[in-house]
Amino acid sequence: MSDGGVVLRRCDGDRVRSDHALRERIAAVYTTVFGEPPYEEPPDRGPRWAHGPLVRHAALPGFELVCAERAGALLGFAYGAIGRDDSWFAGYIRERAPREVAEAWLGGHGELAELAVDPQERGRGVGGALHDAVVEHLEQLGTGRVILVTQRAATAARALYAARGWRDLAELAPGSVLMGLRFTKGDAG
Ligand SMILES: CC(C)(COP(=O)(O)OP(=O)(O)OC[C@H]1O[C@@H](n2cnc3c(N)ncnc32)[C@H](O)[C@@H]1OP(=O)(O)O)[C@@H](O)C(=O)NCCC(=O)NCCS
Repeated sequence: MSDGGVVLRRCDGDRVRSDHALRERIAAVYTTVFGEPPYEEPPDRGPRWAHGPLVRHAALPGFELVCAERAGALLGFAYGAIGRDDSWFAGYIRERAPREVAEAWLGGHGELAELAVDPQERGRGVGGALHDAVVEHLEQLGTGRVILVTQRAATAARALYAARGWRDLAELAPGSVLMGLRFTKGDAG
């Protein structure tokens, strides 16, 4: 990161589930970031997500949230966990991706979710640093491979992922792309 004073803070699932104030701060960034195109989520989506799905995700094995902060202000966040083969998300992928993709990528895989940086803080390496911190965590857990779903129209995120070795695996719905990253060099997957 080129911007001084930015620190990354790692939070485990217990912390996320017990710290209501942290989730409120995450909700505010979520609302700002995902209220923009191409997402255009409604303003109440951030709090509903931060006190609902995020709390459930925080119970997943290997869950870790990484926050980027400057002087206590939250600039962005991302999180990851070990994916469950019997989860709703895995079922969603199995229904929509080619069978060989599901077989090669699901099961003991890592999942990267919700990379978000406040619009005023972009272009200075915060998003890349958050991505790298979560991916490093998932690699250390021995997952071997990580998946995510993103929108084709999310051009900045797509460029960030491509520059870090992610590749497209399948189109799950119009404009919604499953991407994958393998840690082992030479594994064609
Ligand atoms: C994607 C996002 C997190 C990037 O955050 P950021 O702090 O601006 O990213 P960085 O400054 O660390 O840039 C990292 C890389 O991203 C890519 N990138 C970032 N912004 C870009 C843009 N506007 N256009 C093209 N590529 C871009 C580049 O590859 C860049 O590499 P570089 O440093 O060699 O130039 C941010 O744009 C964001 O929050 N977008 C909205 C939310 C979103 O789409 N999240 C993904 C959900 S799956």
